Amino acid sequence: MPVVILISGSGSNLQAIIDAAHSKHCPIDIKAVISNRPDVKGLERARLANIETQVVDHKQFDGREAFDKALITQIDKHQPALVILAGFMRILTHEFVEHYTGRLLNIHPALLPDFPGLNTHERALESGVKQHGASVHFVTTEVDGGPIVLQASVPVKVDDTAETLAANVLQQEHLIYPLVIKWYAEKRLVLDNNMPLLDKKELPATGLDYAEVTKN
Ligand code: GRF
Repeated sequence: MPVVILISGSGSNLQAIIDAAHSKHCPIDIKAVISNRPDVKGLERARLANIETQVVDHKQFDGREAFDKALITQIDKHQPALVILAGFMRILTHEFVEHYTGRLLNIHPALLPDFPGLNTHERALESGVKQHGASVHFVTTEVDGGPIVLQASVPVKVDDTAETLAANVLQQEHLIYPLVIKWYAEKRLVLDNNMPLLDKKELPATGLDYAEVTKN
């Protein structure tokens, strides 16, 4: 399945997806990696894997609409069946999201619907939650509000800092994102009327739980 991946930074999720694609268990063909920032490590990771890279620098555009239009043009050259946001740190316009409805996935470093937005690890620590984690969801026009497919939890320990928590959550991200992408590429996962279906079955409102899914 042809896919395009959008990044803004280190690209460790991108790396996990590249590794999954190379393992042949995840039937995707990464046509391009596009970054809104030049010189980020994720671009280097893509080049090392011989994947085409492009930079669409948001600073070169006069406003969000113009940037998103240029992004759509670049993405659609590759005719992807799936567009993957992997640490892509831009809020997208409704036009962009609607253009890719049902074929746009994101990963968010929190157990949605808790802690949408930025600084999730700091906010989880401040709030005193005992469990934190990550969520993979379809993207809709509500920021971090689209239907959730899969979540993974990590315990919040008394001595956790935002950094240690981020590292623990990131480890889980690298497990759940390739798995959801694999389901999508195998056509087991679809978005039907804003409802994610896996093997034609509806998912719980907060998605499946990774530990449960991989228990057997
Ligand atoms: C991840 O925690 C992702 O969930 C968030 O930004 C971080 C990106 O990390 N949106 P990386 O670029 O994949 O290493």
